[in-house]
Amino acid sequence: MSKLLVTGGAGFIGSNFISYWLSQHPEDSITNLDALTYAGNEANLADVQDNSKYSFLKGNILDKEIVGRLVGEADIVVHFAAESHVDRSILGPEAFVETNVKGTFVLLDAVRQRKIHFHHISTDEVFGALALDSAEKFTEATPYYPHSPYSASKAASDHLVRAYGDTYGLAYTITNCSNNFGPYQHPEKFIPRMITNLSDGQPVKVYGDGKYVRDWLHVLDHCRAIDAVLQSGKSGETYLVGGMSNDVNNLEVAKLLLQHMNLSEDKIEFVKDRPGHDRRYAVDWSRINKDLGWEPEHSFEEWLKETITWYQQNEAWWRPLKEEAEQLYVKSGQ
Ligand code: NAD
Ligand code: TYD
Repeated sequence: MSKLLVTGGAGFIGSNFISYWLSQHPEDSITNLDALTYAGNEANLADVQDNSKYSFLKGNILDKEIVGRLVGEADIVVHFAAESHVDRSILGPEAFVETNVKGTFVLLDAVRQRKIHFHHISTDEVFGALALDSAEKFTEATPYYPHSPYSASKAASDHLVRAYGDTYGLAYTITNCSNNFGPYQHPEKFIPRMITNLSDGQPVKVYGDGKYVRDWLHVLDHCRAIDAVLQSGKSGETYLVGGMSNDVNNLEVAKLLLQHMNLSEDKIEFVKDRPGHDRRYAVDWSRINKDLGWEPEHSFEEWLKETITWYQQNEAWWRPLKEEAEQLYVKSGQ
């Protein structure tokens, strides 16, 4: 029976994780610390709201007093809270440094005094970009080379976690995962933006030439990977987590969506590219497979269809978020 402190549990992945964890580990309890920024939404957690093992505290990970108190009550910290959107980091990087770097520092400092385990959720974007025409993949040994303020701030947080391990003996694990997709993802992100645009009769907006490759990981496979690491991961270890999408590029994803939604390709609009846009991400997940027996179970094509259905059936969830998300793209001209 463990007490988990989850940060950022009202966001996309954190809320999926909390629901997943309480269903798989009903004996455990979870406290969710979340500042409810534009990306945080208590509606994501409707199914656990009445669970006596779940409690929510609205608060900022930069608040040392709150963090100290909650860390004091926990056996393990699972740290999701972050500013997570690359396009927002280009328009306003400061919040990314504050939350992702300084917020992680505040948590680490509290955790090292309690000597409990810290699990850090990070991204494959810290490694930079791979070439389109190569078969290369990121591994745990790939050097860091982030290109966006978002990925640079996540890289800094990863370095801080390892430095606390080496300097203060902090017990930690890190997962660097690829692009997630699935229910409750904010409509500012690529797949939900395309589905909700099409639902509104709008075109899908493809950046640049569309030949940008992401390694799509279903959010439930990500939750299963974190579970495997928390149960049997080695302290001080990093695990890369990736999906089954096989080098599909953004234009191909857009076409698949149009096909599943019975719409024609004239709904594709090519828009201005993102500055510093990483060409290709691909993750070699053989360490977590070999050491912990994890592998992704949700195929990209099938679960893309499920994701479309989820957004079609949950307009009441995304509708209030859509207008503000599109305001962002008015500012960036995309
Ligand atoms: P999200 O933007 O959907 O959610 C972030 C959550 O953190 C929100 O609930 C927000 O309110 C909360 N938050 C932000 N700043 C906070 C602060 N200062 N104090 C407390 N709470 C705060 O993000 P997500 O997509 O769920 O990503 C979760 C984690 O996974 C992040 O660390 C992100 O870097 C990482 N990650 C995400 C992806 C992806 O594809 N979404 C891929 C790789 C890694
Ligand atoms: P995104 O979901 O923002 O994730 P990330 O930048 O963290 O990979 O974008 C995924 C890919 O889709 C990325 O190559 C940028 C591209 N993209 C578009 O082409 N159009 C869009 O409207 C958005 C939001 C993203």
